[in-house]
Amino acid sequence: MTVNKVYIAGNWKMNLHREESVELLKGLREGKIPSQVEAILCPPFLRLEGAAELLEGSPYKLGAQDVSKYENGAHTGEISASMLKDLGLSYVIVGHSELRGEGQTDEEVSQKVRAALREGLVPIVCLGESEEEYDRGLSLETVARQLEESVLSLSPEEAEKVILAYEPLWAIGTGKNCPPEVAQEVAAHLKGKLKVPVLYGGSVKGNNAGEYLSCQDIDGVLVGGASLKAEEFLTIVEAAL
Ligand code: 13P
Repeated sequence: MTVNKVYIAGNWKMNLHREESVELLKGLREGKIPSQVEAILCPPFLRLEGAAELLEGSPYKLGAQDVSKYENGAHTGEISASMLKDLGLSYVIVGHSELRGEGQTDEEVSQKVRAALREGLVPIVCLGESEEEYDRGLSLETVARQLEESVLSLSPEEAEKVILAYEPLWAIGTGKNCPPEVAQEVAAHLKGKLKVPVLYGGSVKGNNAGEYLSCQDIDGVLVGGASLKAEEFLTIVEAAL
């Protein structure tokens, strides 16, 4: 992946019914996306097909929130990378902490990364430490271990195609955002190991996005709650300028 774009990615998580999704997408289409910004929307699986239709001809790119590690076949409830590709998706979030918290391991994350890459999807791989690890000064060590096991265990050609997202667990959905200098330090540490774009995620809003986007080694943001409102998401996009 090249490190010359600003990535603004919205992770809708398990939110928005059909009508709400349509309303948000219409609002987003009214906004202006500058050419240097890669605006990525990651709705729930059920909203993807409708979103693909509504976003046709717009600069927005679509991503999924997860992908199966399997290629196809008897895997009830799973969605394969080729199904996502078939809908015209470009990205997929892999290894979000909310899924790691449900038992997803680094090994599975690496299998999902490989499954996504096989179909030409760009995996946005999430890494982040717990509050306890943060308090004990173990942030760099934790993300380095996750990077090693979930991405660097792949071939260098595969690894260099991913995007990384540093999402400290204690900053997600808490309103307690990570000091930008800490996020910068972690991003620099990750880039020292793998030269790919690094995003920050965790309580990013319109009024604080600029603090992260102005950090030297942060190439974008991964936004949860604030991506559910068109105006707020577009304010974050503006902060990239
Ligand atoms: P919030 O922006 O709601 O804290 O969520 C961040 C996140 O988990 C994005 O993937």
